[in-house]
Amino acid sequence: MAYQVIIPAAGQGKRMGAGKNKLLLELNNIPVLIHTLKVFDEDELCNGIILAVNPLDTAEFKSLLNKYKVKKVLDLVPGGKERQDSIYNALKTVKNDGIILVHDAARPFILKEHIHRLLVTAQETGAAIIGVPAKDTMKTVRDDMVMATVERSSLWAVQTPQAFRFSVLFKAYEQAEKENFIGTDDSSLVERISHPVTMVEGDYDNIKLTTKEDLFFAEAIVTKRQGSF
Ligand code: CTP
Ligand code: MG
Repeated sequence: MAYQVIIPAAGQGKRMGAGKNKLLLELNNIPVLIHTLKVFDEDELCNGIILAVNPLDTAEFKSLLNKYKVKKVLDLVPGGKERQDSIYNALKTVKNDGIILVHDAARPFILKEHIHRLLVTAQETGAAIIGVPAKDTMKTVRDDMVMATVERSSLWAVQTPQAFRFSVLFKAYEQAEKENFIGTDDSSLVERISHPVTMVEGDYDNIKLTTKEDLFFAEAIVTKRQGSF
């Protein structure tokens, strides 16, 4: 039932415009990075975290790991140009063919209950991702013109974590590298090697902190959950 998790944390947070890595911004006086790491550090089924870090951030991240007593980081690997490169660097350090999760450091609100739900499915099928049904009506648009209204019931917004049998994910990454394919998530790479991926329903609070407005939503979620941090 145990798993390891790769946490890509090597971005620059350009869209946040904070003048530094957005993962160092604080919620409740604790850096976003630490909120995310603590969820896995405190999960009894997690037996190791591999953190992908921009070499310029390594010293600061290491001191935060000490300060907040994060125990399960097995390895700090250098990040790459794209998120996918950072994750590939981390994947190359994995030694056994168990279940591997990939979770964005920029999603601090993931719940243990949802990680476990995902894990059970990934163990059965080899590939599972978490997401939520789309709430808005969705249309395809080209040159400002509406082309069509898309059947909403088949549309889901995808989040992380995404969970895979290691051998499945590694094969998908090797194939993507060979074909110079860059995807926006890990599942898209696995879909390309025709391995079926199961969707697990998560919750709408599991937001990714991307732009400044997201910080307001984050504060609201912190307030809602007050007491459980
Ligand atoms: N990430 C990474 N390596 C990269 C780019 C991104 O490890 N080369 C990580 C980020 O640190 C983040 C996650 O992937 O935890 C999701 O990426 P995103 O939200 O796009 O974060 P940034 O790339 O930092 O932000 P931006 O795209 O606005 O610069
Ligand atoms: Mg990015």
